[in-house]
Amino acid sequence: MSQPLTMALSKGRIFEETLPLLKAAGIVVTEDPETSRKLILPTNDPVVRVIIVRASDVPTYVQYGAADFGVAGKDVLLEHGGEGLYQPVDLNIARCRMSVAVSAGFDYASAVRQGARLRVATKFTQTARQHFAAKGVHVDLIKLYGSMELAPLVGLSDAIVDVVSTGSTLRANNLVEVEKIMEISSRLVVNQAAMKMKRERLQPILAAFERAAAAIA
Ligand code: ATP
Ligand code: PRP
Repeated sequence: MSQPLTMALSKGRIFEETLPLLKAAGIVVTEDPETSRKLILPTNDPVVRVIIVRASDVPTYVQYGAADFGVAGKDVLLEHGGEGLYQPVDLNIARCRMSVAVSAGFDYASAVRQGARLRVATKFTQTARQHFAAKGVHVDLIKLYGSMELAPLVGLSDAIVDVVSTGSTLRANNLVEVEKIMEISSRLVVNQAAMKMKRERLQPILAAFERAAAAIA
């Protein structure tokens, strides 16, 4: 009998952008997570199921083997640390960049030049800590879980570290992108034990994902 496979995905852009990759592997998710309240979704393949989790929880489910594989943003993987995960394929989906942004009136360059201690609000504390340490800038990090753009507007922080795509959220809140930290895209992540024990079943899916991702690049 075929070994069952569980894939972890988050609702929204990762789910939407992974569907064509799944299709390339012959897998069709037969329920829509936006309309269903179910957290375990069937597919056309009786041995493959999809679990719906928070984007930042995908690496944890895969690390502990509750899911065999999944899709997670590089931003999320850097915060998680990547322990217990293979990251064999950059899927080139959910592309954006990690950036530093400040209020339009804030002189970031001179604050950095003068060695001022910056207050930085972010969900991405590991990435932010590493970025500012590498620049030799002293920061007080304030951990947030969302709506980072608000922090400089109400005096919670001098700067934010967040993902930017079109820049429209920054513009709508009178913020300016002052530094790009890195390009972000989503990766296929595979549980290290599953990679060995379920290689036969996983390999064709990984190969199909890789081919489909190369076509996106
Ligand atoms: P959580 O629910 O765990 O807080 P989230 O709400 O940030 O996560 P999504 O908005 O679905 O989750 O984002 C998933 C991934 O998509 C992020 O980890 C990031 O890599 C990427 N991403 C985030 N915002 C954008 C954007 N505006 N454009 C393109 N990709 C993005
Ligand atoms: C993300 C992120 C920014 C925004 C950036 O939020 O936290 O707020 O996207 O995208 P932009 O540069 O194109 O404005 P969220 O996941 O809520 O984004 P969404 O508005 O695309 O749903």
